Amino acid sequence: MYNLIPVITIDGPSGVGKGTISALLANFLNWHLLDSGTIYRALALTSLNHNIAATDVEALVEHAESLDLEFKTQLRQATEIYLEGHLVNEDLRSEACGERASEIAVIAEVRSALLQRQKAFRQPPGLVADGRDMGTVVFTDADLKFFLTASSEERAKRRHLQLKKKGFDVNIGALLSDIEKRDERDRNRKVSPLLAAEDAHVIDTSHLSVDQVLELVVTRVKEQAFFKS
Ligand code: DC
Repeated sequence: MYNLIPVITIDGPSGVGKGTISALLANFLNWHLLDSGTIYRALALTSLNHNIAATDVEALVEHAESLDLEFKTQLRQATEIYLEGHLVNEDLRSEACGERASEIAVIAEVRSALLQRQKAFRQPPGLVADGRDMGTVVFTDADLKFFLTASSEERAKRRHLQLKKKGFDVNIGALLSDIEKRDERDRNRKVSPLLAAEDAHVIDTSHLSVDQVLELVVTRVKEQAFFKS
């Protein structure tokens, strides 16, 4: 049944702008959105809150299987994310949580415990799925796959600007080394490493604006049978 529902996957490293493009595309199509990083981050936050070590596979799997995570979406408002009944949008975006998410994402058992939860987002009329392995593992039969890239320097610059807007002045060199460390771990892990699916359209966004990337993506979407019908 699932595979009758169209899916577009958007994968890539952190800070490349997948989240922004995916949200804009989902909005354009009026489709559901899966930000899969949020699910890894929610498990990461659970492990930090409950003092579970990043190496305690058994406890992590147990929590992954029973993760009490709820997304509340209201018209024209940012999605509210509740973990164990608490609003956690801010906590999930912290560097500590991102770092822990990247650590636990290397564990095969954790990834498979979270698989079904991600697949369940495939609901009519369609899904835009954002992550690292959406096109290679979770939705291999996606109708359309994108892989966004950008140099690590450019991604650090974007992250710096984003944080500055929020009032944080973080050292750009520290951001760059964090990004490179996380990329290295995401790319070199044995299970579901970060890589473009063979049939993905790769877009280097280093010198493109959000609007330009969106235009490239939407052009491809408009060529699809599901869009024309
Ligand atoms: O996209 P993000 O920064 O919110 O993701 C946080 C971490 O979660 C990232 O370092 C790797 C992991 N992740 C993953 O392994 N697979 C996904 N589909 C999404 C995220």
